[in-house]
Amino acid sequence: MFKNDLLENKTIIITGGGTGLGKSMATRFGELGANLVLTSRREAVLDEAAREINDKTGAEVLTVPTDIRHSDQVTEMVKKAVDKFGKIDCLLNNAAGNFISPTENLSENAFRTIIDIVLIGTFNCTQAAGKAMRKSGGGAILNIVTTYAFTGSGYVVPSACAKGGVLAMTRSLAVEWAKYGIRTNAIAPGPFPTKGAWKRLVPPGLNIEKKMMERVPLKRFGEHEELANLASYLMADESGYMNGEVVTMDGGEWLKGAGQFNELERMPSLAWKAMDIARKRKK
Ligand code: HXC
Ligand code: NAP
Repeated sequence: MFKNDLLENKTIIITGGGTGLGKSMATRFGELGANLVLTSRREAVLDEAAREINDKTGAEVLTVPTDIRHSDQVTEMVKKAVDKFGKIDCLLNNAAGNFISPTENLSENAFRTIIDIVLIGTFNCTQAAGKAMRKSGGGAILNIVTTYAFTGSGYVVPSACAKGGVLAMTRSLAVEWAKYGIRTNAIAPGPFPTKGAWKRLVPPGLNIEKKMMERVPLKRFGEHEELANLASYLMADESGYMNGEVVTMDGGEWLKGAGQFNELERMPSLAWKAMDIARKRKK
């Protein structure tokens, strides 16, 4: 899909880069020539992912265990990345925390924990990496949000509030930091199976996975490769005029929920035919 050196000489920080979608996007960036900085809390998970990615792509991979809720750790992580690679070109804010719960059952700490990881963590990484990018003449920041950042969703209210905040940050900084040569964009993925998300968001035994798939007009979940290619495009200089955009990749899922008449999909073709016959008879 792309020339093999699309991201050559770029250093990309990927938060939550040791698992799930972060790891898949990091792998694709590595295939396209980027140097990688993987960061999350669990050192062993990061090191295992780094070995795998290096074996598969030959990319240079630095791992820096970091809890992005703490700005001092994030500052140190960015410093280590600059010490190793000389500069930061791109930041992928992908790390997140989430769980399902009736909102009335949430403790203050439960709500705050998700806000801290998703919104404060994204701010910490954006600010620290943004300073480094500014010094080296610019860069690209890509934030992974969700479609319920714009629709809202019950049972994931802390995440919806945090992702909505990240979307506002995306659009705000696209304007404020353009003068530093920093572009800021977002992707809103629909359902892409990962261990981390499925374990926390898809309760077993209720056939929820099947129902989730049926909600998607394309009748399937996303492939990691599809998301990784979109992320690569948004990181590349070739998308240099994209700034402040949120690109949805969800097989049409959220629009299906939004369109008032979309449920007519359930109407059998015989009923459509009967309506048509009745209409023609009336003429
Ligand atoms: C209610 C819960 C809860 C739950 C935790 N809490 N799980 N409350 N329902 N299921 C409460 C705890 O009781 C505690 O409050 C507070 O939240 C903090 O919990 P800890 O376990 O101490 O937090 P921590 O160890 O920091 O772990 C954070 C975590 C955990 C978010 C709870 O799940 C985690 O590490 N997640 C990281 C990965 C992740 O979530 N991946 C999924 C991303 S998927 P009290 O008051 O008791 O102290 C995603 C997809 C979106 O975002 C769209 C999909 C289609
Ligand atoms: P995942 O594998 O659970 O990814 C979450 C990552 O965040 C983990 O690598 C985790 O690593 C890291 N993380 C969590 N708390 C952290 C902290 N305090 N500091 C640093 N890192 C932290 O789930 P995923 O499905 O791939 O999700 C990736 C992103 O896609 C998230 O932003 C999610 O909201 C978004 N998304 C996913 C879907 C989907 O269907 N999968 C849909 C829409 C949006 P550690 O535990 O090692 O810290």
